[in-house]
Amino acid sequence: MTNPPTPSGPPQTALIVSAHPLFREGIARLLGGQARVIGAVASWQEVQSLGLSQAPNVIIVDHGSSDLQEKDLTPLLWPDADDLRVIYVTLSGDKMTVHERHQVAGADEADLLRALKGERPGASVRVPEATAAPQTGYTVQSSQGRMERMDKGTDKPKYTRHFINVTVLVAVVAILAVIGLLAVPKFPKASTQALVVDWLMNLHYGVIGILFALVMGVMLYSLYVFRRKPGEEGDGDHFEGNTKLEITWTVVPLLTVLIFGVIGAYTLQEVTAAQEDEMVVNVTAFSFGWQFDYPDLGVEKSTTLNLPVNQPVLFKLRSLDQDVIHDFYVAEFRVKQDLVPGVPTQLRVTPNVEGRYKLRCNELCGTGHTNMLAEVNVLNESDFVAWVAEQKAAVSPEQLAELGAQLYTSQGCIACHNVSGDPGGVGPSWKGLFGSTQQFTDGSSAVADEAYLRNSILNPMSEIVAGYAPVMPQNYADVLSDEQLNAIIEYIKTLQ
Ligand code: CUA
Repeated sequence: MTNPPTPSGPPQTALIVSAHPLFREGIARLLGGQARVIGAVASWQEVQSLGLSQAPNVIIVDHGSSDLQEKDLTPLLWPDADDLRVIYVTLSGDKMTVHERHQVAGADEADLLRALKGERPGASVRVPEATAAPQTGYTVQSSQGRMERMDKGTDKPKYTRHFINVTVLVAVVAILAVIGLLAVPKFPKASTQALVVDWLMNLHYGVIGILFALVMGVMLYSLYVFRRKPGEEGDGDHFEGNTKLEITWTVVPLLTVLIFGVIGAYTLQEVTAAQEDEMVVNVTAFSFGWQFDYPDLGVEKSTTLNLPVNQPVLFKLRSLDQDVIHDFYVAEFRVKQDLVPGVPTQLRVTPNVEGRYKLRCNELCGTGHTNMLAEVNVLNESDFVAWVAEQKAAVSPEQLAELGAQLYTSQGCIACHNVSGDPGGVGPSWKGLFGSTQQFTDGSSAVADEAYLRNSILNPMSEIVAGYAPVMPQNYADVLSDEQLNAIIEYIKTLQ
């Protein structure tokens, strides 16, 4: 501890505010002849009740008591006292820290006494090397009334350097983040709508990268550079807000969101706009499968979605379910649309790259959701015409069984019935089913012939096989054409 400097100047009057008697006694003893203690009280309310007509020169407040440091009533008590000084002091163990918020953040009793004498920081107040915690600077109130961080001994604001560092850091992190986001693998684009959607997505990646860099860059820089160093016990710098900064961080995000709103509206309009010569495809979804009707071409209940390249398509979507939402999504087309029971919806796509894709249900809809897939083929004009002709031609029993095998997957049968003969499925296995004797929950039994299979598919609740729950969807009469029903039965017959 350094020795207190000898008193000089006019006599000081001091008021001590602390809830702790030991604090009040200690400070009063310390002040000794340096100042006349005109009061030692526990709270600001008590200061008020002292009814001091004249302000003391200095008020020493216990910084360790949070309700004292949070509010300072001096401006109310003595509105005219320009020179009144409020000094905050912390006593912990045998250490003492002075935080005179308005003028000086010192380190020990010597600083308190210097502050009492009215010495200004930067001129004579130094942190004693031997006892004080290492400090790089202190806060002063400048003549403009702004709080500035001062380098010890140089009196130059040093935030410019941090500002430059943070700007460089944020720029580098932003560039890396955007490059990283753009490098995330995506499905190839295969529709005219995908171009617009990807453009907007990339724009979002840019803003996301910058925002990420801004938050993480400033935060990590501050965490490291302004961390508490060993032995540091004082308060951080005190800031009273920054109007310019607050306006900036309100206006910039507001404008960004508004601009994205406008761009988004234009993009949506572009993606959903009606095209000339649209081909209509009716899409029907059910738990758990898809089927496609081409009303203009006379093709019905197709289980694969075949489309001619560069032909604008209007999908009219409906769900056969009572209370389950499905979602039509081909990743390469980028756009998607829910199928909501009772609410016809639509979607426009112009596929522009030939190839095989996959339609995936994109709304979690139940146990068969992951199997709710359909093959999508974007064909050239002549292949498409050939496919349409093929759909209208008659089929042989072998072709029928082959179609049945496709329907087994595409119509969602696979979700509950296996063809391996393994026990434990949601419904009976199809292997060895044809011709076998089935026991029902009501005690009766029947041989699984064609009539039985047809009835079990169309009226699944009429006979429940013992050991299974009555959970099969009852909408196959609407979903399957007669030919498809025959195809499934033909397929089951082959599973011996
Ligand atoms: Cu239908 Cu998921």
